[in-house]
Amino acid sequence: MHIKNILLENFRNYDNQEIELNENINIIYGNNAQGKTNIIESVFLCAYGKSFRAKKDQELIKFDKENCKVEVSYSKIDREGTIKAEIRDKKTFFANGVKQNKISDIIGKINIVIFTPDDIEIIKDGPQKRRRFLDMMISSLRPNYLHLLNSYNKILEQRNNYLRQIKLENKNPSMLDIWDEQLSEYSFKIFEYRKYFVDKISNSIEDIHSLITKSGKEGIKIKYISNSKNKESFLENLKKSRTVDIKKGFTATGVHRDDFMIYINSRPVSIFGSQGQQRTAILTLKLCELKIVKEEIGDTPILLLDDYMSELDENRRTSFLENIKGNQVIITCTDRIDLENESSIYYVENGICKKV
Ligand SMILES: Nc1ncnc2c1ncn2[C@@H]1O[C@H](COP(=O)(O)OP(=O)(O)OP(=O)(O)O)[C@@H](O)[C@H]1O
Ligand SMILES: [Mg+2]
Repeated sequence: MHIKNILLENFRNYDNQEIELNENINIIYGNNAQGKTNIIESVFLCAYGKSFRAKKDQELIKFDKENCKVEVSYSKIDREGTIKAEIRDKKTFFANGVKQNKISDIIGKINIVIFTPDDIEIIKDGPQKRRRFLDMMISSLRPNYLHLLNSYNKILEQRNNYLRQIKLENKNPSMLDIWDEQLSEYSFKIFEYRKYFVDKISNSIEDIHSLITKSGKEGIKIKYISNSKNKESFLENLKKSRTVDIKKGFTATGVHRDDFMIYINSRPVSIFGSQGQQRTAILTLKLCELKIVKEEIGDTPILLLDDYMSELDENRRTSFLENIKGNQVIITCTDRIDLENESSIYYVENGICKKV
């Protein structure tokens, strides 16, 4: 698929901007703080219904303005469409002009895979970043998944509130049974989705990794980590940790604690990997995501590379470019790069984006 056109109105540092994109490579360059990432953010907003960096939607509205709009027109193998976001006190989405009741209804219409220098945090930071990576990918491919996650989190919050009430107000612990039953039900479903997608990554990870390293020497593996495997064991664990949970006031077991690990030569790359091995591992993981999204949607997702090319050394850049052939790419960078004839180049300065 590809984006044909982006319209911005009072979005971040833009007044009124139209950007027509090329089906292949689009290079957006300019100095720092001119509005390059803002363009990536506007596409992300229409793909996932939220920004990847703003805490509040209203931060996206241009200073001193009351509302902002973003409209992205796209073309898929079998259809064309538009997603429009309007933000004032509230955020509203329209798909092909029709107002959407739930934000989640737009997710999955525009398929993107985003690469940023911060991706390395998925390897280096705690499990939260890794769960987020999986959850975002899965929710864009399986509409039901986000619904499951939201329901799970709601019940988890209720259980946690009740745990605190047991401690402070001496409420009856047997009331937890209802939440435990529901949580283990959702836990298992979420576990199954995540396990399915980690297995998919696992099927490609070795091949993609050896394409990047150009050697078959380093064995790379990925493993989903959970302390349960079925509904019964999720329930059993909740029962077992009940006393501790009451003491601590939160639920210590469940899919909200799950993780995945990447190993190189049987050792966790997060702990034992060199800087270069970690960078190669994250690039491999994201390229696995790209492959899976492509297989799942039967079309090419759009790649957003925010300041990413400068992250890659010559070798990784070459294998990266080989891997992304055929996808529409939107690249931002501070120093203009020239990749091939089919690319369009844009220059951004102070909230104005011009094709050069
Ligand atoms: N709500 C807003 N209204 C107006 N301007 C804003 C708003 N939010 C952010 N900005 C401005 O947008 C600019 C940042 O844009 P952006 O993050 O796209 O920069 P960039 O070109 O990607 O820079 P870098 O190369 O440093 O990443 C800053 O100058 C910031 O002040
Ligand atoms: Mg930027």
